Amino acid sequence: MLIDPALRQSDGRAETQAAWQRRSIDNVWHPCTQMQRLGTVPPLPIARGEGAWLHDYAGARYFDANSSWWVNLFGHADARINAALRDQLETLPHVMLAGCTHAPAVELAERLRTMTGGVLGHAFYASDGASAVEIALKMSFHAWRNQGRSDKNEFVCVRQGYHGETLGALAVTDVAVFRNTYDPLLMRAHLVMSPDARQALDGETAADVAARALGDVRVLFEARHEHIAAFIVEPLVQCAAGMAMHDPAYLRGVRALCDEFEVHLIADEIAVGCGRTGSFFAFEQAARPGEAPLWPDFVCLSKGISGGYLPLSLVLTRDAIYEVFLDDDVARGFLHSHSYTGNALACRAALAVLDRFAEDDVLARNRATAPLLSAALAPLADDTRIEHLRHKGMIWAFDVPPDVAGERFAERFHLAGRANGLLIRPIGRTVYLMPPYVLDDDLAAWLAARVRATLDETLGGHTSTRSDNAACASDPATA
Ligand SMILES: Cc1ncc(COP(=O)(O)O)c(C=O)c1O
Repeated sequence: MLIDPALRQSDGRAETQAAWQRRSIDNVWHPCTQMQRLGTVPPLPIARGEGAWLHDYAGARYFDANSSWWVNLFGHADARINAALRDQLETLPHVMLAGCTHAPAVELAERLRTMTGGVLGHAFYASDGASAVEIALKMSFHAWRNQGRSDKNEFVCVRQGYHGETLGALAVTDVAVFRNTYDPLLMRAHLVMSPDARQALDGETAADVAARALGDVRVLFEARHEHIAAFIVEPLVQCAAGMAMHDPAYLRGVRALCDEFEVHLIADEIAVGCGRTGSFFAFEQAARPGEAPLWPDFVCLSKGISGGYLPLSLVLTRDAIYEVFLDDDVARGFLHSHSYTGNALACRAALAVLDRFAEDDVLARNRATAPLLSAALAPLADDTRIEHLRHKGMIWAFDVPPDVAGERFAERFHLAGRANGLLIRPIGRTVYLMPPYVLDDDLAAWLAARVRATLDETLGGHTSTRSDNAACASDPATA
C-alpha cells in the first residue's frame, strides 16, 4: 500500500481505518456484495477524494481506475463543479418538479436538446440509471397505447445486456448473476444475439459479427413486430457484460430495422454516454462519417452526466412521441414521478459538467490522450496470459482465460490493485480501465505499469512472454 511517509509515524490512522470498516460491516448493507465476504475483503474506507485520487484513513491513496462505477468524469472535488453546487446550495437545493420548475432543470433540458441537433428533447428526470430505463420502457408502451396499439407491449433486449436492477430494468437485463434469482418476478422480454466482436469466427470481422446479430433481430421482428414496443441496446459497449464492444454498423442496422418494423429504439447511454466512447452520445457513431446523423427514439443518460456528484438520470425523447401524450385526458399523460425528479442540485452539477465539456474541449482532449494509455498498454497484447485486449474511447479492457484466472480472480485482482495504488474491480475475468478524463503521459505509463504489476501479483506462478513490469519512473502516486 502507498503509505505517505509523513503518516507512518502517526498514531491511530490504521485503527481509524479498521474502525470504519467494522462499523460499515455492522451497519451498512453494501451493494453488489455478498456481505459474508466482507470479513475477508473489508470495504475500503475513503476519507477524501482529490482529483482522480481517493485517500483512505491510513495514509494510502488509490487511483480511481473505474471512475467510481463510471460516474466520476473529472476527478473528485472538482473546483468548478464544487463552485456551481455551492451557488445552487445557497439558492435552491430542491423543489418538486410537478407544478413547479427551475432554471437548472430547464437549462439542462435545453442544452441536451441542442446537443442532439434538436432531435431529442423534453428531458424526463429521475435519479438512478435503472429508473431512466423504467421510464423509457413505460413511455414506449404508453406512446403506442395512446395511438391505439396497446398490443405493442413486448420488449427486445440484447444477450449480455445490462440495464439496471429494478424489476422492469432487470427484465431486459441478461446478466445471470443479477437476474437469475429474481427471474420468477420478471416480465418476459425477447433476447437477441449480442454483437460482441469477441465472438468473431475465423476470418470474420467485427462488422461481420454485427451483421449476424442483425439477422437475429430481423427474424424476430418479422415474426413479432406487431407486438413489440421497443428494442433496448447499450450502444457500442455492453459494459456490465465485461466491456463487450461491437461495430457501429450494428447500431445503423438496428436503427434501420426499427424504422422498417415500427419499433421504438431505446439507447441506454447510462454508461456509454457523456464522452465515454469518444463522442458525447455513443449513438453519434452510428452514422458513417459524412452521412446524416442517426438518433434513437429514446436516450437514457445517468452516471457521468452529474460528474460523480449527485444521483441524476434522464430520458430524452422525440417530439413525435412526446406529442402523443398530449390530451385532455389526464390518464393519457405520462404520470410517472419520483420525489427527487429534477433535483436542482443534481441538474446544476450536470450543467457544470456540460460547461466543463465546452470550456475544456474534453472530447478533443480525450482523443489526444487516449492513445497514450493505448500505447502504454499495448505490450499486453503479447502477454500469453490475457486475451482480447480492446479499447473504445475512454474504456480499455482485456480478459483472463478461466484456466489462467483461477478461483475468485476479480477479488484477488482487486486486492492486489489496492496494494498497487489502484481502485479497480474486474468484472468476472475482465480487467478494465474507465479512468476519469485526466490522462497524461506520466499517468498513462504509471497506470499501465500498475495494471501489469497487479496482474503479475494476482496470477503468481503464471508467466508471460514479457518481463518488463517495472513501475514507471515518474510514478505520480509516490512522487
Ligand atoms: C448500461 C446501464 N444501464 C443502466 C444501469 C443502471 O444504473 P443505476 O445503477 O444507476 O441504476 C447501468 C449501471 O451500471 C448501466 O451500466
